[in-house]
Amino acid sequence: MVLLAMTLHNKRILLLISGGIAAFKALELIRLIKKSGGYVTPVMTKSAKQFVTPLSVSALSENKVYDELFNLTDEAEMGHISLSRENDLILVMPATANILAKLAHGIADDLATTLLLATDSPIMVAPAMNVRMWEASATQKNMKLLRDNDVQFIGPVKGDMACGEFGFGRLSEPEVILTVLEDFFSPVTKTLSGKHVLITAGPTYEAIDPVRFIGNLSSGKQGYALADAARRAGAKVTLITGPSNEVLPYGVKLKQVRTAQQMMSAVQQSLPADIAVFAAAVSDWKIANYSDVKIKKQQHPDKNSTDEKTLTFVENPDILKTIASLTKNRPSLVVGFAAETDDILENARAKIIRKNCDILVVNDVSPATGIMGGDYNKVSIMNKHNQQIVELPKASKAQIARNIIDYIGKINE
Ligand code: C5P
Repeated sequence: MVLLAMTLHNKRILLLISGGIAAFKALELIRLIKKSGGYVTPVMTKSAKQFVTPLSVSALSENKVYDELFNLTDEAEMGHISLSRENDLILVMPATANILAKLAHGIADDLATTLLLATDSPIMVAPAMNVRMWEASATQKNMKLLRDNDVQFIGPVKGDMACGEFGFGRLSEPEVILTVLEDFFSPVTKTLSGKHVLITAGPTYEAIDPVRFIGNLSSGKQGYALADAARRAGAKVTLITGPSNEVLPYGVKLKQVRTAQQMMSAVQQSLPADIAVFAAAVSDWKIANYSDVKIKKQQHPDKNSTDEKTLTFVENPDILKTIASLTKNRPSLVVGFAAETDDILENARAKIIRKNCDILVVNDVSPATGIMGGDYNKVSIMNKHNQQIVELPKASKAQIARNIIDYIGKINE
């Protein structure tokens, strides 16, 4: 899973699900909002329940589904007025032509439309409908009316429809809707707008034989979080990653590799880039005597004697150093990472020179810190040009990524 930035931390979203075939996608959106730290209160229209069951919505949101306008218990508990106010945002997803029309004209004939009329929270709608319904002049007029009343539209987009037609009216993907929500709650200055940022992440695996390899404990979390943060800052991002279980951040171009050599080639093929961030834990060595058949355990005649094997290593290319030393096509800013377990700053000072990079993000990965593979990180940013070291407080890898991208954005100004 991508280490989500928890950008929606404690944000309360009232999710109104209206009755379209795309209603099932609300389940995925609920999952994404929750992963980002948000809290979902689901409301379903009568027809939405024809497309997706309240049980699934309730299970995923870990909340009760509200669907009755005249429910005495709810009226006693909180009432539809407070339900419409006790949230930071109302999102209608999917929004049918019908609910848009009611919202535009102040019709309140069920719980969802009553909440929309009673609320003082911001409203977003993610329409989904047949292309002709979307293009119908009534819907277009309603859309203009709603926009003039500060209702924010997410999509619809152009694409294949469930009805077999093609055109505008398709629901924006849940990942896209999530990023709109995240941008709404924590707007990011687009400091890297128009820049191509190349990021390496994760470990590399160096094969011993067809089934065995030498790897390391890197999860890829920090690099993936950097890719997400750079994309949010407006960059076009290429993420070159070794084996990782993280989920691809939205809007990022992914290149998957296994070995250091493959990572090197993928980086070279992805140039030119304005900024390169080498967050991968690349294996310094690969196996010299790779066996293309599985190495067998030898049966030793003497039972007391063990079967010893020797692996020989040869050096891998140093991707960071190679790219930072290019005379042609060198990214104007090259950022390296230094994972150290001892003499941290001293080693880092030598490394920033040796690797020829502009910035070095230094972290202490001694086992006691739990940083390697964990969710938190503690780093200092060393700048070769002004000799300054900025120490960042311990934080989630997502937060650290945002801080590093902010730092890069400022240099870029
Ligand atoms: O020398 P060391 O492995 O400590 O350097 C770490 C930095 O160099 C990281 O930015 C890492 O991504 C990069 N590196 C590389 N290629 C290698 C080894 C390290 O790009 N073969």
